[in-house]
Amino acid sequence: METLNNNNNSDNSEIKLLANRLDIHRYSEVPKYYVQPQESRPDKVMVKNDSIPIINLGGHDRAHIINQLLKASQEYGLFQAIILYVINHGVSKKLMDETLNVFKEFHAMPAEEKKIQCSKDPDGKFKIYTSTNYFPNKIRKDGEVECWKDTFLHPCPTSAENMNYWPDKPHKYREIVGEYTRELHALAHKILELLGEGLGVAPKYIYNKMGEDPTIVAQHYPACPDPSVTLGIPKHRDPSLVTILLQEEQVQGLHLEKDGQWIAVDPIPNAFVVNIGFILQLMTNGKVVGGIHRAVTNSKTARTSVVYLIYPSPKAIIKPAEEFVNEKTPTLGKFMNFEDFHAYYVKNGMKIEEEYFKIKP
Ligand code: OGA
Ligand code: NI
Repeated sequence: METLNNNNNSDNSEIKLLANRLDIHRYSEVPKYYVQPQESRPDKVMVKNDSIPIINLGGHDRAHIINQLLKASQEYGLFQAIILYVINHGVSKKLMDETLNVFKEFHAMPAEEKKIQCSKDPDGKFKIYTSTNYFPNKIRKDGEVECWKDTFLHPCPTSAENMNYWPDKPHKYREIVGEYTRELHALAHKILELLGEGLGVAPKYIYNKMGEDPTIVAQHYPACPDPSVTLGIPKHRDPSLVTILLQEEQVQGLHLEKDGQWIAVDPIPNAFVVNIGFILQLMTNGKVVGGIHRAVTNSKTARTSVVYLIYPSPKAIIKPAEEFVNEKTPTLGKFMNFEDFHAYYVKNGMKIEEEYFKIKP
């Protein structure tokens, strides 16, 4: 059986990305570094996903939308916003499809090309990496398990000030992703404003207080020889204020944890999955709770998802806002800025919840 870090001549050790390795190798078994420990494997009984609320953001009754949104985000931390009235969203089916396609094309490019397309930013904020190899020279520690995915990400400020660094391949990348991220920014603000209103603060309170650093992530999970022992992404909450996820209509993979069970968040046509982020949970002192989720792989087809995150600005202090603190809900945990939070999160994942914020898993 081949492993991913062998150095024999048939193996191009330069190619670190999983999708490109799989172009060369056909693994009949999952290499051992990808085999999850028994307790993390996705073999638990699944609940049908019709228990996940669907919110119609195109409705005209704002109070009703806010109510539903709040109820959903407090119960589940995650809700699906179905786009019934595209005219109110500004996000068309065409743009959603084009965006998914351009990211599929991106991940299908040769590894070298992807690296070139990611290396224009002098600050190194554009990243292409596989699994947990966030740091290019990282050496895998004994017992560390890899995830069955490649990730591409970059900041996408609405000013488009960094657009010169964006990929110019695939064709029309800047045009399509530029439009998509502008529209998703408006949608994210709309959702944060509705949530703010529901929480009794001023509509723009959340992002005015925390600043923002919008980021686009394209996750790519190649088809896997044995999905029962692998994970695309292990369970986590997003380290964002809010996340809006676009998944392919035909491919399942996202799971939400609720009451110790995993619920399949299957794609609904024209719907985005909206996920409350852990930063919003901390900021609201637990008034809204970030959904714990994971992604699994499948053996038939690759899956690509496009994840739009509103991170707070790097220097924002991550702590409950005074509006959400009283004697009954005292502030727990240490305060740090988002930059430090994120660096720790990238290395240690959900451990940060207990270590810094006293939140029991
Ligand atoms: C993420 C994530 C899920 C998916 O990128 O944070 O949870 O379905 N992705 O790709
Ligand atoms: Ni996530």
